[in-house]
Amino acid sequence: MIVDVARLKQQAAQRAVNFVKSGMVVGLGHGSTALFAVRQIAQLLQDGRLRDIKGVPCSLEIGQEAQQLGIPVTTLDEHPVVDLTIDGADEIDANMNLIKGGGGALLREKIVAQASRREIVVVDESKISPALGTRWPVPIEVFPFGWRPEAAYLETLGASPALRQSSDGALFQTDQGNYILDGHFGPISNPHQLAVKLNGRAGIVEHGLFLDLATDVIVAGTKGIRHLQRGAGDDRD
Ligand code: A5P
Repeated sequence: MIVDVARLKQQAAQRAVNFVKSGMVVGLGHGSTALFAVRQIAQLLQDGRLRDIKGVPCSLEIGQEAQQLGIPVTTLDEHPVVDLTIDGADEIDANMNLIKGGGGALLREKIVAQASRREIVVVDESKISPALGTRWPVPIEVFPFGWRPEAAYLETLGASPALRQSSDGALFQTDQGNYILDGHFGPISNPHQLAVKLNGRAGIVEHGLFLDLATDVIVAGTKGIRHLQRGAGDDRD
């Protein structure tokens, strides 16, 4: 069976946009799934079905996109509390923990997630994983000054780190001008323990383990859409 992944991403994003209400400050995630949500919010604003939305973009790219689409953009300086954020993920486990940062926006994404009352993660079903690290490396944003010792540190933790390059072969730099080491750990048995080790290093600016941050996960699959909520059940329709 041929699965239209883009269609599934769009369905998940559209379901999440149902939770956006007029007057909200909304975190705008980075990546192809979150972009569907941004476009849908722009459409609803244009139609007059939503009013007075302010967007907090998780990347410079999505900020530009939102402005072009007519979504008023704000900052965490002006609005330190975000009502609701819609963002994608690269991998998600049964505890609603995530690997994020495939698009390189992990630092701003995590700051916005932490500032959000509700963090709705939108994915197609291919992102569901038995254990984080099974399918994706953990993106680790490092300060360029110390990237080599941090790469060596990741090796001591059992990862093989790869310095991320852009599709044109140039060194990838984040919106902050930092580098990304993609840490190939394989299946991670204790993500919280690994996060503590990564959090403790001065040269590591942030990592893509998003633990206990998602309040909701919307998964679109060929058999329908599931809405998982932290501390609640699993609604399928
Ligand atoms: C961006 O840095 C990432 O965290 C994205 O949320 C993630 O890579 C998901 O991307 P897609 O929605 O494009 O699959």
